[in-house]
Amino acid sequence: MARLRVGVLISGRGSNLQALIDACAEPSFPAEIVLVVSNEAAAQGLSRAHAAGIPTRVVPHRDYPDRARFDAALDAVLREAAVELVCLAGFMRLLGDAFVNAWRDRLINIHPALLPAFKGLHTHERALAAGVRLHGCTVHFVRPAMDEGPIIVQGAVPVLPDDTPETLAARVLAVEHRAYPLALRLIAEGRVRVERERALVDAAAPGSTLLNPDG
Ligand code: GRF
Repeated sequence: MARLRVGVLISGRGSNLQALIDACAEPSFPAEIVLVVSNEAAAQGLSRAHAAGIPTRVVPHRDYPDRARFDAALDAVLREAAVELVCLAGFMRLLGDAFVNAWRDRLINIHPALLPAFKGLHTHERALAAGVRLHGCTVHFVRPAMDEGPIIVQGAVPVLPDDTPETLAARVLAVEHRAYPLALRLIAEGRVRVERERALVDAAAPGSTLLNPDG
């Protein structure tokens, strides 16, 4: 069966990109990354793509007079590569409504918190300040409002009494690296559908809830 053609948008380190690259390296994995796009020329994730032999494009947001034209440039490179699903992986630009609506249910994101809690930035600091006992990550379909949209997979980790934002971030990142490939697999196998703004996962599929007690 043809593998789902995936484009990954990054801005930096690219460790989630790496997790997706590693998953796609498995011959039986139902998706392949056909393009990695960064808005930052210095993004470490670009070297990860080069090492894996994946084509890359740099679309610097500073080169465009406004968001609409930047988004249109992104859209053009994705379509040129015949991308079918877009994965945001540490992509630090907000996408406008036109782009988000054009890719509706074909655009997913990973967020380092158990949504709908802790949308936005500095999620680990805020989780510690709130005193929550569980924290984690969410892979979701993207909607125009930031960090909103049907939830596909969540991964949870404990918050420990002596955690710092850094130790908690590392524990969450480990579960992110399992959650994103799982969500991609479920979508590529056609096991996810959106109904009334909830993502429903085929009951026969591997569970879409991950627990990572030891990080
Ligand atoms: C991750 O924590 C992800 O959840 C968030 O940005 C971070 C990106 O890290 N959206 P990386 O670039 O994938 O290493």
